[in-house]
Amino acid sequence: MGAPEPILTSGAIAMTQTHLVFLGPPGAGKGTHAKFLANEHGLLHLSTGDMLRMAIQEAADYPEVAGAAAEGAVPAHVAIGMQARAFMDAGNLVPDDLIIEMIFHRLASATDERGWILDGFPRTVPQAQALDSRLEHEGGRLDHVLLFEVPETELIARLGSRATCASCGAIYNTRIRPPTHEGVCDVCGGVVRQRRDDRPDAVRKRLQVYHELTAPLVEYYEAGGRLRRVDANRTIQRIRVEIETLLGLQS
Ligand code: AP5
Ligand code: MG
Repeated sequence: MGAPEPILTSGAIAMTQTHLVFLGPPGAGKGTHAKFLANEHGLLHLSTGDMLRMAIQEAADYPEVAGAAAEGAVPAHVAIGMQARAFMDAGNLVPDDLIIEMIFHRLASATDERGWILDGFPRTVPQAQALDSRLEHEGGRLDHVLLFEVPETELIARLGSRATCASCGAIYNTRIRPPTHEGVCDVCGGVVRQRRDDRPDAVRKRLQVYHELTAPLVEYYEAGGRLRRVDANRTIQRIRVEIETLLGLQS
């Protein structure tokens, strides 16, 4: 592992080449805050969920070769999309080997000088071990893991009222953050709609999977001294300020 990061101000983390993981249950606000930090502060936002949804969309554009993925007849990301859809729709995790291949391929071309945020990866202990091995091999480091904590009743309410742009992934909420024009993305003009895995049965499954397979990462990262807990059951603005303070950033 590399040298410990310098401290800029009391309680704050230096932002030179910062490498972060956003961890937390579905609906906790990982994507909301990762997108903000990426836009405002130049960090690269890598969401495995967004990447998979994009791959699924691209797979849908290859109907004439559907089924040919196993023969290597389609690009790798399209093949991932073809395989991932059934897992995601049911609220299950996509297999580790597919996810690790996808995110490592993307990280290999990540040249952003400020660093990156991994949103939704790792999500199992084997994924976390693979990331640690890769960083160790490269002489890199994972600076902090932010754990977004929200009570389950609030998570269910948020997911039940979430709407997402199918084109750019912008996140809305019909309760607190609707798009200006219903169904139309403020950012790109794309179609804003409910995610397929935000149906109640899939939400229940995702929460169960989180507790079984992802929650053990809290102990994994706590043991390594990398975990920072964020009370994410407050307004988006208050959470944003807390994260910026934690990271030594100013809007
Ligand atoms: P992914 O897309 O990563 O979904 P998730 O982890 O379930 O998390 P969400 O995106 O649902 O929630 P979020 O924390 O980003 O919350 P958001 O900011 O949107 O993964 C989807 C699927 O892909 C997985 O189920 C799995 O199948 C697969 N997958 C992905 N990564 C994988 C991996 N590593 N391994 C295996 N499989 C993988 O906010 C939610 C809503 O709440 C929004 O409407 C927002 O406006 C609102 N909101 C946010 N903050 C607040 C607040 N403070 N107060 C009130 N409302 C708020
Ligand atoms: Mg998300």
